Amino acid sequence: MSQPSAPGTSGGDTVSARELFGTKWGFVLAAVGSAVGLGNMWRFSYIAAEGGGAAFLLLYIVMVLLIGIPLMLCELTVGRKTHLSPIGALRQLGGKAWVPLGFLFVVTGFLILSYYSVIAGWTMRYAVEGITTGFPAAPGEYFGQISEGASAVWWHLGFMVLTMAIVMVGVQKGIERAALILMPTLFLIIVGLAVWAGTLEGAAEGYAFYLVPEWGELMDGTVLRQAAAQAFFSLSLGMGAMLTFASYLSRDTDLNQEAVTISFADFGVAFLAGLVVFPVVFALGLQGDVSESTVGALFISLPGAFAEMQGGRVVGTIFFVALAVGAITSAISLLEVVTSSIIDELGMVRRNAAISAGVVIAIIGVLSALSIDVLGLADQIAGDLFLVIGALGMSVFVGWFMKDPAAELARGAGTTFSRFIPAVMFLIRFVLPPVIAVVLWFAGRDAWNAIWEFFGVALGG
Ligand code: TRP
Repeated sequence: MSQPSAPGTSGGDTVSARELFGTKWGFVLAAVGSAVGLGNMWRFSYIAAEGGGAAFLLLYIVMVLLIGIPLMLCELTVGRKTHLSPIGALRQLGGKAWVPLGFLFVVTGFLILSYYSVIAGWTMRYAVEGITTGFPAAPGEYFGQISEGASAVWWHLGFMVLTMAIVMVGVQKGIERAALILMPTLFLIIVGLAVWAGTLEGAAEGYAFYLVPEWGELMDGTVLRQAAAQAFFSLSLGMGAMLTFASYLSRDTDLNQEAVTISFADFGVAFLAGLVVFPVVFALGLQGDVSESTVGALFISLPGAFAEMQGGRVVGTIFFVALAVGAITSAISLLEVVTSSIIDELGMVRRNAAISAGVVIAIIGVLSALSIDVLGLADQIAGDLFLVIGALGMSVFVGWFMKDPAAELARGAGTTFSRFIPAVMFLIRFVLPPVIAVVLWFAGRDAWNAIWEFFGVALGG
């Protein structure tokens, strides 16, 4: 691929020599591919279960609409305006003072992918075993065996190799083409599964849990920060992933429309996943498993369901294949942030950048593959705390420091969406920073407690 121009020289109205998406759909699909992944099922389902089902769901919807979409617009504007990866983009528009935020993005990308890949490894393993040996009859025990240790390491490494291979090939050939085929397939499979889950006896109880709110839960700071962080995680916000993808956009795209499309598609898949997971959990009386093992909930309850049910082997295999597909398109975006930063900052060629970043991430991830407690902690620190810090930085930057972001938002916008730009700017300046700051308070508190707890346990205290 062609080399991008040096940081700081490619702004203005000219599109630099940077490789661009071939089609408008390429971008939307790649962005949807980034957003839709393990977060929509593995993370969404256990956090929704913890947060009281419907109460969480409502808060989550508010977060996506009020915070998620404006924040996505922040990232898209900065990326498209500069055609640079996060560090260079922030340097160009904000000066040196904003470079650390870009570094935080890269570190967050490293960390998230390191454990994300472990979970993706479990997913691939279930997909393969669904076909070859069938699902385990004692899923809790089985998950305990495969989730940590040598075999988890191998599946994790396998997944990393796959991800690296796609990112090495580059935006158009690798990412765009993969997403173009895989995303619609995934969507269809989940719709099919949701319909199937509705036919299960006992599904009604699952729907009730998922869709009838208990208002008391909403007052809890932990539920609030989980809803916000889950919105960031699921929409791939707070670490420059959307920024990076938008840096491959030509300047005549309607960012507002794309942000809405991406967010609704992502929410739709998470919502549908809930319509699969909760009926299955309740139909099989697996509520206990889900609330006990948080991180492993999906990987215990669903294989258990698939093992017991008629035709479960086929349905289950399809489900895990779909999930693995979603995981790959998301992992691509995580690695792409790191890779494009290395290309832009250090001047490496894409192949070497992707390999060196991938190898380091794979090595860090071994820790999460060896201990599920490490994985949980890494998720809480990078997936909750760091994303929230990144989101706060991004909203303050675009709202208060970037020159005329409204003009950039308006570029290429159709009449429908340009009417909302003043409202969006209001949200970015006056609503996002204070709300995310409150979320950060709770995220910081909970992460602090989790770290103490982790080392307390590790030291045998
Ligand atoms: N959004 C993805 C998911 O739901 C994960 C992901 C990809 C991500 N890129 C990201 C999360 C960037 C945070 C930031 O599985």
